[in-house]
Amino acid sequence: MSQERITTLLTEKRSYLPPEHGKSSAWICGQEEYDALCRRALDDPSDFWGARASQLIHWFKRWDKVLDADEQRHKYRWFTGAKLNASFNCIDRHLISGRRNKAALIWQGEDEMDVRCYTYQMLYTEVCRMAHALSSLHIRKGDHVALYMPMIPELVIAMLACARIGAIHTAIFSGYAEGGVRSRIHDSKARVVITADAAVRAGKFKPLKANLDPILEKCPSVAHVVVVRRAGLDNVTMQPNRDIWWHDLIDDFTLNADFPCEPMDANDTLFLLHTSGSTGKPTGIMHSTGGYLTYAAHTTQWCFDMRDDDVYWCTADMGWITGHTYGVYGPLALGATTMMFEGVPTWPKPDRYWRIVENFRVNILYTAPTVIRSLMRLGEAWAERYDLRSLRILGSVGEPINPEAWSWYHKNIGGGELPIVDTWWQTETGGAMISPMPYATKLKPGSAAKPLPGIDAAVMGSGGRDGEEDGGSGHLVIRKPWPGMMLGVFNDEEKYQSYFSRFGCYESGDGAQVDADGYFWILGRIDDSINVSGHRLSTAEIEAVLAACPEVGEAAVVPMPHRLKGEAIYAYVVTRDEVPWSEDLRKKLRDTVRRDIGALASPEYIQFVEAMPKTTSGKIIRRMLRKIAGDTYEDLGDTTALADPQVLETIIIGHQNILQGQHETATAAGDEPASEGKEAAPGA
Ligand code: WT7
Repeated sequence: MSQERITTLLTEKRSYLPPEHGKSSAWICGQEEYDALCRRALDDPSDFWGARASQLIHWFKRWDKVLDADEQRHKYRWFTGAKLNASFNCIDRHLISGRRNKAALIWQGEDEMDVRCYTYQMLYTEVCRMAHALSSLHIRKGDHVALYMPMIPELVIAMLACARIGAIHTAIFSGYAEGGVRSRIHDSKARVVITADAAVRAGKFKPLKANLDPILEKCPSVAHVVVVRRAGLDNVTMQPNRDIWWHDLIDDFTLNADFPCEPMDANDTLFLLHTSGSTGKPTGIMHSTGGYLTYAAHTTQWCFDMRDDDVYWCTADMGWITGHTYGVYGPLALGATTMMFEGVPTWPKPDRYWRIVENFRVNILYTAPTVIRSLMRLGEAWAERYDLRSLRILGSVGEPINPEAWSWYHKNIGGGELPIVDTWWQTETGGAMISPMPYATKLKPGSAAKPLPGIDAAVMGSGGRDGEEDGGSGHLVIRKPWPGMMLGVFNDEEKYQSYFSRFGCYESGDGAQVDADGYFWILGRIDDSINVSGHRLSTAEIEAVLAACPEVGEAAVVPMPHRLKGEAIYAYVVTRDEVPWSEDLRKKLRDTVRRDIGALASPEYIQFVEAMPKTTSGKIIRRMLRKIAGDTYEDLGDTTALADPQVLETIIIGHQNILQGQHETATAAGDEPASEGKEAAPGA
């Protein structure tokens, strides 16, 4: 965990009280109400969650039990016996609640004049047509459908059409490249893949369908590919009997083609979403229909104080969990208006977000620290020109927000007044876990504040003791189940159990510290993940790609602090005997990672080394490699475990040379414009 974070939390003394204006009509107004809810949720969790589920969700059949817990196997089943459908909750019930003609989804294309708006009625029509279409491709309840799509309305329509049928969707971020896409399709055994001819990003086309074709040769489960014509490329190869254009497919279904919702068990899987695993193989996180949807609606309402006429904009790509929960399921379950943006914050100019806020009078903006940092660097003048007075609440997610970025966001976007909800959570948690309530919580810049009512977060020492170590920091765990908790890991029970093996309760993999006021300060990952611009990547996955190159003998990947990205990737590589170190090889290795996993994973620095620092039993000591990459080698800790202490000195010298630019192109990863990957699509 970063030294900088620890220094921050020791020195940050500012705090901000919640705004008075608007407080009286807030969902949670004031500290007393929040405290009372926390007590109630703790005293009687079943009553608390049962009440929220009744208030927020339409159930075809009520549950027998709020929570069915198998503590031994760490299996928690929420709302057992209940029936519902997520598509019904996100669409149909709003048709009769007075929201029929309300904007459900407003889409801003990359071209500013390219805007589409779907009312709930229109969304209903399109989702029903797509559900018929999928059904005509023999997709049934329980089948898997992969979505490798850009940020276009068809992605939301496809998600809700799957939910309507009871098919399980697996979104694959459109920034992923071959290996990332292949492993996800493989793992899910998808029968249908939905994609587009190309994604449009910063004025360029990324040909998704063409990328997909070679991958599909190795994915026998895929019977059909549905292709949205987004970019209008004219050289798209369509394989007869397998590939079909979206518009041709839905053309068979009229605008009044109702498609009845499949009644799902509360614990049927709603979707699968992969996150970076510790082994190099992505982990397929499964989310339930009842618990997840309840938790999505619940947290959207409370963390963002969602009101009926709000325009709410979560900037995350819908291929990530943030997009699922806060771009689609949470806001639509509440009958709100959700904004979707295809482009990137800095193209054609760095005022893109502020134009959208002004044009659509956005009330709630939820984005990522990496976006804030990249816009901050370009100066406040870009925001100053716009009328941002519609904004009421700002949000942050994906990585720890540094106080400098927090202050910039607060002052320049929030006029020094708006509450910032810094929400800590993960793909596995389904929704926000630690977050301020905008009209109840005093804010401290850089802290995600306190756990939500009913969330039992704690910091543990590595010995499993309840308490901290290392000056008060430790492992962030959640001791009680909550409805948004993952159902399981797809086809990998061992991986699921590993989340519980160390502490007997859910281990997040993050380090944290709690201050005297009970505020949580997230310190970042303490497992083998790297958080690049809010995107969680696995060191093992990147190492595996590097090690598969014939020139590479051994590779070790660690995070290094980065001004814009939060963390960047630093790779140490030992080449095979006769292979010389060269710029060409560096480029080749980077290209390989980019081609296989995606641009996000491309190493910022590659340092060739003679040998890795190892223990006498031959294990790489990553702790030391992290410190060197982070430039903190004065404090390498205990070096007595090293088999050959000499190795370390050589690595330090090599690292210093790299920093002086002797062996590295300064913008190593910078061959990747800020537009690809994270900043465009805060994972967040
Ligand atoms: C990891 C989860 C939450 C959805 C987006 C990413 C980091 C997330 C915060 C925050 C500090 C944060 C953690 C976490 N993280 N939000 N507000 N403050 N760190 O989901 O890909 O599953 O990554 O993102 O390290 O473990 P994910």
